Amino acid sequence: MKIGYVQSHPIFGDKESNFKEIGKLIAGKKMDLMVLPELFSTGYAFISKEEAETLAEEKNGPTAEFLQEVAKKINGMVVGGFAEKSGSKLYNSAMMVKEEGVLSVYRKIHLYYKEKLWFQPGNLPLRVVEGNGIKIGMMICFDWIFPETMRTLSLLGADVIAHPANLVLPYCQKAMTTRCLENRVHAITANRIGLEKRGDDQFLFTGKSQITSIDGSILSSAPENEVHVDIVEINVKKARNKKLNEFNDLFKDRRPEFYKF
Ligand code: ACM
Repeated sequence: MKIGYVQSHPIFGDKESNFKEIGKLIAGKKMDLMVLPELFSTGYAFISKEEAETLAEEKNGPTAEFLQEVAKKINGMVVGGFAEKSGSKLYNSAMMVKEEGVLSVYRKIHLYYKEKLWFQPGNLPLRVVEGNGIKIGMMICFDWIFPETMRTLSLLGADVIAHPANLVLPYCQKAMTTRCLENRVHAITANRIGLEKRGDDQFLFTGKSQITSIDGSILSSAPENEVHVDIVEINVKKARNKKLNEFNDLFKDRRPEFYKF
């Protein structure tokens, strides 16, 4: 299986130009699964709930249509982040899309910093959805710092964690090596680059998108401040065997009766 990511440089509020940038970056690329950053079509640094609402979309909006086109072009599945409007509520969401339409939506359960002012915390269960023979679990950016997120997706049978991100802290890439190793799962962290200076805040996004293998090895690492696309070949089925050696199976050896919280 070929899996990959796009590390883009979104312009705040300019969906058309953000779609165009991705279109150029993926020209001629084919893969089974591709991950795009968190909020790749809108940018990150909202300054009010009203502003977030103006840029948010229902799950079948222009971002979903764009991702369907992308899925067709790459001949695979695509996961990307978007600002989701559902009734009067907004969520920081990701969708998994194939050419025919949206397969699944995930709403970020662990909101970072002022996201809490515009978005509701996710209210949908963590899920694993199969597409193109790959069992895919979605999580978004700051979800990484809660080990329960990847543990749950892995216990649900994920082969690959699709991880759209807008990282501003320097810890995630290193942490993902442990997250992948302890769960024997692959992960695609698709980060963005660039600076967003809006209202009282300034965010410098840290690039270094990463594909991490089941033994914690890094299969792809993007530059810190350039747009980038990469594709690697993996055997997804390796994630279905949790045996570390003849005596230890990382999931069968768990002792949940001792884990109180
Ligand atoms: C983040 O969760 N976007 C830092």
